[in-house]
Amino acid sequence: MSHHGQIYTLYTISVHHCMTQTTFEVDREFLFIGRTFEEYLSLFGLDRTDLTDRPILDCPGGPSSFTAVASALGTEVMAVDPMYEHTLETLEAEYRDAIDRNVSQLREKRDLFVWDYYDSVEIRRRYLRAAAERFLTDFARHPGRYVAAGLPDLPFADDTFELTLSGNLLFVYDDRLDREFHEAAARELLRVTAGEVRVFPLASLDRTRSAFVDDLVETLRDEGVAARFESVDYEFQPGATEVLVLSDPLSGR
Ligand SMILES: C[S@@+](CC[C@H](N)C(=O)[O-])C[C@H]1O[C@@H](n2cnc3c(N)ncnc32)[C@H](O)[C@@H]1O
Repeated sequence: MSHHGQIYTLYTISVHHCMTQTTFEVDREFLFIGRTFEEYLSLFGLDRTDLTDRPILDCPGGPSSFTAVASALGTEVMAVDPMYEHTLETLEAEYRDAIDRNVSQLREKRDLFVWDYYDSVEIRRRYLRAAAERFLTDFARHPGRYVAAGLPDLPFADDTFELTLSGNLLFVYDDRLDREFHEAAARELLRVTAGEVRVFPLASLDRTRSAFVDDLVETLRDEGVAARFESVDYEFQPGATEVLVLSDPLSGR
């Protein structure tokens, strides 16, 4: 399947079936759920002082409130997701459905996760709802912040962004996005970023470190890309407490 094919199969029901009880199932190709601004800071290992006065990219943005809140705080942010081609009504229906499915699986498989951050499934559900509602309001008011596109092809010039955040797509879905896609996506995120690209988590749906992480980092390092792993305070998938930080020392500024 081509990468573009992958983008346009968002609505297909996945034929993926989990092999063991330790796997968290996503029955659509990708889950249209999003985290809040506060969760983003925690899981990417950032604080408010890291919100630069140069543009930030959130890719994939999903129904996350990061773009809305960071923009309200005065930072220029663009979010990219293939789902943004849809109407407000479709997006709302999609996130409601995705949250319901995600929450019902979490109730069934509560023990597969670490609950220090959320405390309960109900609180996690409230975070998801809060993020999505804030996203939808901002999407309606500021459609220019939300770009319908998809990795590995982003419609931005080289070094457009100072900081790029990529959460809960790469490495998570390594059963349906192949090694080639991961490499092309990482290169594209680096191309449009003058400073750092941060990727979280490094674990896939079976909750183990994705087999692509170290191999991809080695390939990029061989080409002169700087790559490091930083510990973060956020833990939901057990042991997934590292963010990958990439930067290309040759990026023009
Ligand atoms: C689980 S959400 C993550 C959203 C957000 N980054 C977060 O962590 O809350 C995954 C998103 O990836 C999007 N997606 C799927 N294929 C993509 C692609 N090729 N490029 C960019 N985004 C994609 C989906 O539409 C979905 O919104």
